[in-house]
Amino acid sequence: MKQILLSLATLFFSCCSSDNEVKAEGPANTGKTLVVYYSYTGNCREIVNTLTGQIEADVLEIRPAEKGLRYEANNYALGTQLLNTIKANPNDAGSYPPIDPVTTSLNDYKNIIIVTPLWWSQMAAIMQTYLFQSASQMSEKHVGIIVSSHSSGISGVVADAKRLLPDVTWMGDALWIKASNHGNRASLIESWLKTQNFSDEDTSADKMYITVGEQTQSVTLVDNDAVQILIAKLQQGDVTMTLNSSGGFEIWGALGFSLPTSNQQMTAQPGDVILYNGSNICLFYGSNSWSYTRLGHIDGLSESQLRTFLKAGQNDIKVTLSLTKPTGIRNMASTPSTKGENVYYSLNGQKVTNPTHGIYIVNGKKIVL
Ligand SMILES: Cc1cc2nc3c(=O)[nH]c(=O)nc-3n(C[C@H](O)[C@H](O)[C@H](O)COP(=O)(O)O)c2cc1C
Repeated sequence: MKQILLSLATLFFSCCSSDNEVKAEGPANTGKTLVVYYSYTGNCREIVNTLTGQIEADVLEIRPAEKGLRYEANNYALGTQLLNTIKANPNDAGSYPPIDPVTTSLNDYKNIIIVTPLWWSQMAAIMQTYLFQSASQMSEKHVGIIVSSHSSGISGVVADAKRLLPDVTWMGDALWIKASNHGNRASLIESWLKTQNFSDEDTSADKMYITVGEQTQSVTLVDNDAVQILIAKLQQGDVTMTLNSSGGFEIWGALGFSLPTSNQQMTAQPGDVILYNGSNICLFYGSNSWSYTRLGHIDGLSESQLRTFLKAGQNDIKVTLSLTKPTGIRNMASTPSTKGENVYYSLNGQKVTNPTHGIYIVNGKKIVL
């Protein structure tokens, strides 16, 4: 047994040390990073390719819904018109040119780097649409920005970013890559990354479990005061409450205690777990815009699976929150139950054939049943 644990430990530490070697070359970037870009003529795409050669990141491309438009034709007439429409009414969603739907959720990311072209000294209109639409999801992120222009300075683009994302933590100064520097972008990006304050929070965020009837789902919690207090409360024992359907988009009701609020206007999405008015919990299977405090997001269920899980449309629904996954409860997601497929060991290394409640070692990791 000791040998098994020793080899697991060796494997674990050898994985970690190679991981550390990669990180030592780049910035302190242990939180997960998403690079979001728009590119009309390809320069920003090249910048993204160079950037992702230097850091570990996922990439999201924003695309206009209308294809084949020529923003630069007739002395940049269309590009100018799109920007003027936004400028005239920046708070109106209808002012922003439509983009292809984005399905990437920002929940998993701590760091976001925006790579955008400059248009008429402002942020390209297509990228503005994305930031306008995703501002509430970005509110707890560390955000960096890289701007590509022919030659104009980027202060107007930075101002657009700050207007569109008022609640983010900026990683540092924006990086400007003008046409004459495009060929040097690798070294510019490398130096810039060293100045940026990435969130190094571990993305293996805290989890809790929600049980409705016979089914339990994990929830990835955000990090705020409300969640810290909620975790402390759940450490004392599970919390059960009765929730009711409302508005065709949520089940909600009293938690039975209050949590500190940090309300922000947001559009709650299917799966979101939200604190409303400090003492109510809302579990969303649809979406709604309101001033809420986010608590977390139910992992891995589609909208229709959420409707089933949350008993959408029903009332008097018994819901239990817990920090450990109750035994004998089925998870809706198709991931096979680990119980029964793995070998369980007690903390003193004894194999356990029928694990019940307690702490066990499975695949070298401590788990709680
Ligand atoms: C509609 C439009 C307006 C632009 N306005 C400016 C400008 O005012 N100043 C400037 O230096 N470059 C301007 N550019 C050039 C782009 O900022 C530059 O070529 C950038 O690298 C394009 O990035 P992309 O290839 O990823 O689309 C403009 C480009 C377009 C399409």
